[in-house]
Amino acid sequence: MVQFTLPKNSKIRTGKTWPKPEGAKNLRKFQIYRWSSEDGQNPSVDTYFIDLDDCGPMVLDALIYIKNNIDPTLSFRRSCREGICGSCAMNIDGINTLACIYGLDEVKGDVRIYPLPHMPVVRDLIPDLTHFYAQHASIMPWLETATNTPAKEWRQSIEDRKKLDGLYECVMCASCSTSCPSYWWNSDKYLGPAALLHAYRWIIDSRDEATGQRLDELEDPFKLYRCHTIMNCAKTCPKGLNPAEAIAQIKKMMVERAA
Ligand code: SF4
Ligand code: FES
Repeated sequence: MVQFTLPKNSKIRTGKTWPKPEGAKNLRKFQIYRWSSEDGQNPSVDTYFIDLDDCGPMVLDALIYIKNNIDPTLSFRRSCREGICGSCAMNIDGINTLACIYGLDEVKGDVRIYPLPHMPVVRDLIPDLTHFYAQHASIMPWLETATNTPAKEWRQSIEDRKKLDGLYECVMCASCSTSCPSYWWNSDKYLGPAALLHAYRWIIDSRDEATGQRLDELEDPFKLYRCHTIMNCAKTCPKGLNPAEAIAQIKKMMVERAA
C-alpha cells in the first residue's frame, strides 16, 4: 500500500486522525487537506477511515459520507453529482479531476485529496475561482453580432455546428488551468487553457461576427503565447477535451491572418 507522508519541511501539519469505524470489513484510509481562515493555524492533513461497504463508489460519495457521518466541518463544493456542473474539481491522488465521476477503485492505496493546486483556498477543498472566472469573462463568452437579430434564430449549418464539438462540453471545472505550470507562474497575465478553449469556441462559431476583435484581444505575449504545449491540460481534463489543441488552432489563425 502507498503510504503518504508529508515532507519534513512542509508547512502543512499532520492533522487529526479520526477513529476507525467499528466492525468495518472493507476499510479505506483518506488523507484530506484542511484549512480554515478562522483558527489562525497552518493547513493540515486529516486522516479519516470509511467502511466502503457503507459508502457509494465515487470519491465524492466518500466526502459526503465523511461530512454526514464523521466530520460535518469538512468543506467542499458539489452540485450535480454527474460531471456536469464542474464544481467538485479537486486534486485526487495527484490528479486534477471531478470527484463525482472519479471512482474510488481508480485510486491505489490511501486516497489523498487536496484542493486544485496553485489557487488561493477559501476553506478546505474549496479554491477561490474569482480570477479564473474573470479571465473567462474577458474572452467575451457570448455570441457577438453586428447585423440585425433574426426574427427566429441564428442559423448554423450542420458542418459548422460540428466544429463546436470538443469545445462546448467544457464545464469550467478549472482542472486544466490548475494543472498547467505556465498558468501556475503567470496566471495574472496568461489566460490559461480553459479560458483559451472558450475563446476558440467563439472564434470558430460561424454565427459570430467579432472574430477579428477576438484575435486582436489575444495577440499578446502573455494571454496566449505563454502556452508552451506542456499538454497537462489535455491529460487531466475529466471531460476528455483538448485545450492545447484549441490553443494551437488560435496560434495557427494568428499566423494565417498575418501572412
Ligand atoms: S477544458 Fe476540461 S479541464 Fe478544462 S475547464 Fe473545461 S472541462 Fe475542465
Ligand atoms: S458535482 Fe457537478 S461535476 Fe461533480
